[in-house]
Amino acid sequence: MGKLSALFIVNIISLIAIACGQCFVDEKISQSMYITWGDQHSYMSADGEELQYGLDKSSVENLYFYILAGSAVQSKYEYLFGTIEMQIKLVPGDSAGTVTAYYLSSTGVYHDEIDFEFLGNRTGQPYIIHTNVYTQGKGSREEQFYPWFDPSADFHNYTIQWEPNKIVWYIDGLPIRVFRNYENRGIPFPNKQGMKVYSSLWNADNWATRGGREKIDWNRSPFKAGLRRFRARTYKWNGPTSKYQCGPGDLLENVFNKLNFGQSKKDLSNNQMGQMKWVRDNYMIYDYCKDTMRFKGQMPSECYMQQY
Ligand SMILES: *[C@@H]1O[C@H](CO)[C@@H](O)[C@H](O)[C@H]1NC(C)=O
Ligand SMILES: *[C@@H]1O[C@H](CO)[C@@H](O)[C@H](O)[C@H]1NC(C)=O
Repeated sequence: MGKLSALFIVNIISLIAIACGQCFVDEKISQSMYITWGDQHSYMSADGEELQYGLDKSSVENLYFYILAGSAVQSKYEYLFGTIEMQIKLVPGDSAGTVTAYYLSSTGVYHDEIDFEFLGNRTGQPYIIHTNVYTQGKGSREEQFYPWFDPSADFHNYTIQWEPNKIVWYIDGLPIRVFRNYENRGIPFPNKQGMKVYSSLWNADNWATRGGREKIDWNRSPFKAGLRRFRARTYKWNGPTSKYQCGPGDLLENVFNKLNFGQSKKDLSNNQMGQMKWVRDNYMIYDYCKDTMRFKGQMPSECYMQQY
């Protein structure tokens, strides 16, 4: 790209950014998240990037945001579209029966939800990375993967890219799943209500590990997971009128598309498609669209359409 056109684009970006000042957010964890339960010994790092959270002093050795069995955080605001990024280090060792969740959700019966959930396991046995999407209260769209790395040894980047035409789940930059907008074919898409970001760690030993056969070993508690560098590059949602607050009469969706220069209309690149194929060929363990027994042959309609 020539220098001139680069300059031109930079200018357009700043113009739109000014116009959108009220609704675009790019916030640190300290500005955007708060603890909803179990907040003993919580501590925010000076730069506001990391929140440390522990049950006892001995667990407070690093600048991580610890969540303990039965604790949760959520964002202060609701968002509509954008990129939600979180680095997570899962419970190490014997994590059987625990579930660490990181998801976007709206409220009410017809709620929308976009999920990452991590199902723990006995020491040395693999976690399951569970994904799902609810639209207008309807879920049952699970896809599950084994991690290709040890998710408890280090922090990894789990990103949800929520755009008007599709949702993409990424792990360390590799796309693992896509949910396309087929609203014009009668399948609801999450684009009419804001969602908050939530993260929690809880006891789910009635179903999480080997279908509930492996129970939590409470002698191992407290269980700790770390969260850091949460980034929501999103639009703040203040109810249905926020659709219009980014510009005169402009729909948030249009503004989003302008800001992203039509990126969101784009499919994944060939390179990204290759990456996703590698993950799905080698690490995918469950795909609802292949579960004909469960749906008794009446597969959800999106299963008949191009998925990514
Ligand atoms: C995390 O992954 C997303 C999606 O690929 C990427 O945009 C972002 O830059 C990554 N963040 C870091 C800190 O590497
Ligand atoms: C736990 O390990 C068992 C045995 O390797 C495996 O079948 C299962 O998928 C693993 N993950 C969970 C969450 O159950």
